[in-house]
Order: sequence, then C-alpha cells, then structure tokens
Amino acid sequence: MSYGHQGLREKEEDSRIRKVTSIRRDNYKITVSINKERPMSQSPLYNQYDIGKYDLHPNYSFAHLADMIPKSTPKYIDSGQHYVERIVRALYYFKQCSLIGPSGTGKTHIVYLVAELCGLPVWEVNCGLQTSSYDLIGRFIGLGKENWIDGMVTRWLRQGGIMYLDEANMMKQDVATRLNPVLDTRGHLVLNEKDNEVVERHKYGYLVISMNPYSAEFAGTKPLNAAMRRRMAVWINFDYTSVGDKISSVEVEMLRNRAKVNEDVAYKIVQAGAELRRQYKSGDIPYGPSLGDLINWATLIHDGNTANVAAEETIIALTSDNSEVQDDVRRIIESIFPKPEGNQSMR
Ligand SMILES: Nc1ncnc2c1ncn2[C@@H]1O[C@H](COP(=O)(O)OP(=O)(O)OP(=O)(O)O)[C@@H](O)[C@H]1O
Ligand SMILES: [Mg+2]
Repeated sequence: MSYGHQGLREKEEDSRIRKVTSIRRDNYKITVSINKERPMSQSPLYNQYDIGKYDLHPNYSFAHLADMIPKSTPKYIDSGQHYVERIVRALYYFKQCSLIGPSGTGKTHIVYLVAELCGLPVWEVNCGLQTSSYDLIGRFIGLGKENWIDGMVTRWLRQGGIMYLDEANMMKQDVATRLNPVLDTRGHLVLNEKDNEVVERHKYGYLVISMNPYSAEFAGTKPLNAAMRRRMAVWINFDYTSVGDKISSVEVEMLRNRAKVNEDVAYKIVQAGAELRRQYKSGDIPYGPSLGDLINWATLIHDGNTANVAAEETIIALTSDNSEVQDDVRRIIESIFPKPEGNQSMR
C-alpha cells in the first residue's frame, strides 16, 4: 500500500501543498504533507494575485510578530497595471521599491495588502511629520547610558518585515543622511550613540518608500534626495483609476459594492470625483478625493441623504476649510447632481 500516491494526488489538487514527504517507519510508510500555508495564503485575496513564485521569507516564520501583519485589507483595484505583482516582484529581486503618486491613490493601502498577502509585518513611519532620528534610530532614556530604546528603523533592521517610509521626500536631511547606508540592500546601521554597535539588516527586511510626485502642481513637495534616489531600483507610478473624463468601470463597481448605492449614483459620484481630481492635479484645488473618500460620501447617500447634503459633510468639507474653495467644489457637484427645485437653500 502506498500512501505516496495519495500525497501526490493532493499535490496536484492543491498547489499550495509545498512538500510531500514520505517517512519509512517500521514496516509501513507514512506520508506527511506540509501545507504551504504560507506566509501568503492567510489572505482570502491571495489567489487573485499572481505572486506564488515570489516567497519573501522562505522557511522563515514571522508568527512572533503576527500582530503587525495586516489583516482583512480590502482588495486593491487597478485597470490592468498589476501593481501588487510588480511590488512583490521588486521586493523579491531588489528588496526595496518606491511608489509615487498623488494623495489618495492607494499607496498605503497597497503596502498593507502586499504585507498581508506575503505574511510580513509592517513598520510604518510618516516622514512628513516631525520625525527625528531619535524616533527612527533610537535613544537612551532616563539618566546615563543604561536604558537604550531602539527606534523604528533599528527594530525593523533587527526583526525584518516591511519598513514603509511614507512621504520619504519630506524627510529631514539629517535623518536621510543616517538612513542612506541602511538603504544599500546589504546595508547596516552603525549606532554611533551606542558605542558604535553595528545593526545588520535582517535577511527578510524589505523597504518601501512612497511620496507624492514632485512638481509645481503638488504644493509642498520636494525632490527626493539624490542619495536615496540612487538606491531605489524600481519606481512604480500610481494614479487615480478615474480622473477627468476617464471613468473607470471598476471604480464604479467598487463603489456600488462597498457603499451599496445604485449604478447611476455610483457613476455620478465617480464622475464628480474624477473632475475634482483633475482640478487637484492641475493645482486648482488643494485636495483630490480618494476612492475611500468617495465611499464615505456614497455611504451617507445610501443612508438616505441627497447627494448634495451628503457631499457637504464629506467631499466639500474635506477638500478645504476655505469657503471659496468649498464653493468651487459645490459647483462641480451641482453640475453632476443638480439640486432639486425648491431645495436650493439646503446644505
Ligand atoms: N485602487 C484602489 N483600490 C482600492 N482602494 C483604494 C484604491 N485607491 C485608493 N483606495 C482607497 O482610498 C483611500 C486612500 O488610500 P491611501 O491612503 O492608501 O492613499 P495614499 O496614496 O497612501 O495617499 P497619501 O499620499 O495621502 O498617503 C483608502 O481608503 C484606500 O483604501
Ligand atoms: Mg499614504
């Protein structure tokens, strides 16, 4: 009797079974199947992305950091750009990559999704905030030099997973200078503060940086410093799925499913969002709505409000505090959702 066949059949039936091992013990043979319950397959979305060949931590478990591995991240929609696959591939070959795109195009979302799909913990730092090198690298607390606390980057270097540096181009120069050696893929960090301790980069330590594109249109952005730019092998550009006259049916569908509004309303919301994004990209308004923002607007419509009333508390207030800008946004929305007669004063 051969249990081996059984194992092989399982192997054919379920490609996620990684290893079928036969062990001979006494006179009979036991087949042990080790499910490839990978890293990756914890997410129900795993099979929707073609990333099976890129195992980002072969034979290594991050179970001890399970709390830091994202869960239930929603699907990421694109129009055939295969962003998830491209990011996972970049991490597999180069250990790091950068994502560039306007605010709200889902850069943070996709990093969390990739982490969930690949079973990796996420360490996130927003460099736009007043992040100091103490926060990133570490410091002594209390008196003297006894109690050292690792900063976020040091912890990531020691423990692995994805380090996500959001708004990397806004990083202060002194912090960037400390980080540059770390970004060499075999790089390490020297803790000058702590008797020059050398911290090696974990073998499964991946890095993703993201930023808004640097251009005159995007107020407040600045170019990424050259040293960091040189160290990133792969650059992936993000844009809104619908912008200007280009309306993505996938985005309309997503809105219908996530906020339960009908097709006509979903289409018009995306149309309004696409126009606001166009104006944001050309510098006319300070913010372009993300899919998440459109979902919030649609949720209030689904709850029984008119599109105009629901827009006041969501899209309009969100775009700016400035009443002139709010008027501009309101006009765009009214061109797509005309206010019912006799209801003109309602906001
Ligand atoms: N293509 C997409 N598929 C699914 N959800 C999306 C997509 N794009 C944006 N979203 C949703 O829009 C919202 C904003 O996305 P996110 O915060 O990831 O944008 P971002 O690019 O990181 O913006 P910022 O540059 O301001 O940090 C989230 O709720 C996200 O889930
Ligand atoms: Mg973000």
